[in-house]
Amino acid sequence: MQQEDVFKKLVAHCKEYGFVFPSSDIYDGLGAVYDYGQNGVELKNNIKRYWWESMVRLHENIVGIDSAIFMHPTIWKASGHVDAFNDPLIDNKDSKKRYRADVLIEEQLAKYDDKIEKDVEKAKKRFGEKFDEALFRETNPQVVANREKRNVLHERMSKALNDNDLEELRRIIIDYEIVDPVSGTCNWTDVRQFNLMFSTEMGSTAEGSNKIYLRPETAQGIFVNFLNVQKTGRMKVPFGIAQIGKAFRNEIVARQFIFRMREFEQMEMQFFVRPGEELGWFAHWKEFRMKWHKSLGFGEDNYRFHDHDKLAHYANAATDIEYRFPFGFKEVEGIHSRTDFDLSQHQKYAGKKIQYFDTELNESYVPYVIETSIGVDRMFLQVVAAAYCEEEIKKDDNSVDKRVVLKLPPALAPVKLAVMPLVKKDGLPEKAEEIINRLKFDFNCQYDEKDSIGKRYRRQDAIGTPFCITVDHQSIEDNSVTIRYRDTMQQERLPIDELAAILKEKTDLSTLLKSL
Ligand code: GAP
Repeated sequence: MQQEDVFKKLVAHCKEYGFVFPSSDIYDGLGAVYDYGQNGVELKNNIKRYWWESMVRLHENIVGIDSAIFMHPTIWKASGHVDAFNDPLIDNKDSKKRYRADVLIEEQLAKYDDKIEKDVEKAKKRFGEKFDEALFRETNPQVVANREKRNVLHERMSKALNDNDLEELRRIIIDYEIVDPVSGTCNWTDVRQFNLMFSTEMGSTAEGSNKIYLRPETAQGIFVNFLNVQKTGRMKVPFGIAQIGKAFRNEIVARQFIFRMREFEQMEMQFFVRPGEELGWFAHWKEFRMKWHKSLGFGEDNYRFHDHDKLAHYANAATDIEYRFPFGFKEVEGIHSRTDFDLSQHQKYAGKKIQYFDTELNESYVPYVIETSIGVDRMFLQVVAAAYCEEEIKKDDNSVDKRVVLKLPPALAPVKLAVMPLVKKDGLPEKAEEIINRLKFDFNCQYDEKDSIGKRYRRQDAIGTPFCITVDHQSIEDNSVTIRYRDTMQQERLPIDELAAILKEKTDLSTLLKSL
């Protein structure tokens, strides 16, 4: 299946099964804003719980906060967001569409990558088992030429972005004859900087109003609470402050579903350390966060680090954790060594001392910071993309049936157990309700009596329910049920009394947390 088709299927699946809906759907949606449905909110909450418990509960020296979305406007001046949180935008004069200049150039870079991969695939087929891929990549003239062209373009773009040279960005687009995908023309305006923060007014005009911003990251709410938390929690460096919350960015986006949104959620942790110790902690958090991702069981080879070669002026190390999405390796999480930039800036702008007295060193300093920052929605998309499977099932009469199954880690699944009476009579629905009433305090259970058992299994497969149990006439006699496992589709007979223990062992978040 083509990668784009997989992506389209994910979007359709998320809508059909109550995971994600376009916001304001009955008004034809609102660009890059989405709502989570009945199954989506459960999955999203489980992802957040996995993050929170692994960061806050498992670490004695990390505590959580929940800061407000509205913050003093000077905070965004101090953090650099007012002056530098910009995207370079360009308009096509014919289609009147607006694009990010760097994204247009990145798409051109991706074309070179595609050409290289196509040549490699062709050669693989041609040479079969004898094929030496590494040698081919190093020596094939066409591959070498395309790589060279790619590198030249990449270097030119990086330099233009670093130098903030908007004219050069435009020149690159013209030189490489990059056309607007809508109009097909090269009739471009100049490139302009566009700030990504949403703003609004606080207070009525009669009293005098203030321009304030919707926070573009949750991190600043942590920095400005550094002293409050450190003092009231008697925290000792090294320690961390974690937060999950909404962030807003006026992104120029094109059909990226929940990968890039205008309203989204972040899970961020700022870890405060002694100056000079930050790079050791950076390495520590890189390793821990990668383990967190890999523990979900979606395949070791599907993750990689992408170290930033161009660092923001306040950072002395930065990396992304990337996942192999159906549309290529993309960033899911960022880990940044932010030095003492943010605390020092707030110290300067607020005019208040923000320092830590280290009793072991007998000195005061502004702590350095390692940040781990992951988008809840992007993580949601990663999980659904990784879990989505289409399978063909051979039936007894040799015909082939198809099923779509979300192979979610059981701890993240929206529904842990579906309880299905075989028929809607003979006391079976009552027995099913009785089972739910015993288990519902610990597990999210769903009752389903509509349609054939086969159809009910398919519905549960599609939302990733790891266990289905069927209540039949035998259940009334001996208190046993049939349990069916989502991934293997195998079934076995079990006493009802054993269900709670099985569900706990397989679906409990603590099983996942213990693997960290
Ligand atoms: N405080 C640092 C920070 O915000 P970032 O790289 O801009 O860093 C961190 O964002 C993470 O937030 C990203 O790795 C991504 O998962 C998520 N994210 C950023 N912008 C997003 C958007 N427009 N839509 C969805 N998720 C986004």
